[in-house]
Amino acid sequence: MLRLSGVNAGYLRSDVLLGVSLTINEGEVVCLLGSNGAGKTTTIRTISGELKPGQGRVVFNGQEIQGKSPPAIVRAGIATVPEGRSIFPQLTVKENLLMGAYSRRRAFRKAEIESAFEMFPRLAERQNQAGGTLSGGEQQMLAISRALMAKPKLLLLDEPSMGLAPILVDMVFETVAKLAAAQVTILLVEQNAHAALEVSQRAYVMERGRIVMEGTSAELRNSEGIRAAYLGGTH
Ligand SMILES: Nc1ncnc2c1ncn2[C@@H]1O[C@H](COP(=O)(O)OP(=O)(O)OP(=O)(O)O)[C@@H](O)[C@H]1O
Ligand SMILES: [Mg+2]
Repeated sequence: MLRLSGVNAGYLRSDVLLGVSLTINEGEVVCLLGSNGAGKTTTIRTISGELKPGQGRVVFNGQEIQGKSPPAIVRAGIATVPEGRSIFPQLTVKENLLMGAYSRRRAFRKAEIESAFEMFPRLAERQNQAGGTLSGGEQQMLAISRALMAKPKLLLLDEPSMGLAPILVDMVFETVAKLAAAQVTILLVEQNAHAALEVSQRAYVMERGRIVMEGTSAELRNSEGIRAAYLGGTH
């Protein structure tokens, strides 16, 4: 469904991504691990069209998308939940969801909001509450639901559990598991390697702009290197 091959991309004159190649197949949850500054967010930005690769190709469902604008990439079927909570704090939950569906017909919007509320009853209960008054985990749920309003074929999630208390981290990973069960294809960037490897089928590890390891999530969970670097020792 999505394939990056030999992608170099970055900021001004310095490339951050150095020959990145990765594949996401339809229906998969793939996670991208790596330490701070490795280039994970830069990878997401390159897929979503915020950054243009200097070299390499990004192919989505058979079509080259590198060089397309971010709205064109959303229309092609890729929605992104960026780093940090990206909801509109003054707007209600329902209004936030409508912002994600602005490009859709009215009848469709209503049906999509209903299905978001079905998936996340917490959002239904709080539909008239200002987004900024939701808990961190609920805001992340709202940000994800808003991205889903565009009916994406592929969802890019950049550190959805960042900065959340453990119980809310659990809530976010339950959300990812629910989406996976609903056959949403996901690229998940996470610092929380343990939970990310539980919820995904395959994983890539990035260091200094290069993919240094890839495999099934089960393989990576059992790898000594991964345990030492990302899973807090050899338990
Ligand atoms: N707008 C920018 N201008 C210049 N350099 C940037 C910019 N954004 C990121 N970088 C640099 O690119 C490198 C990769 O950053 P990136 O945000 O992709 O890392 P990351 O893997 O997402 O890290 P983290 O886990 O901390 O979010 C870093 O060295 C960073 O300083
Ligand atoms: Mg990042």
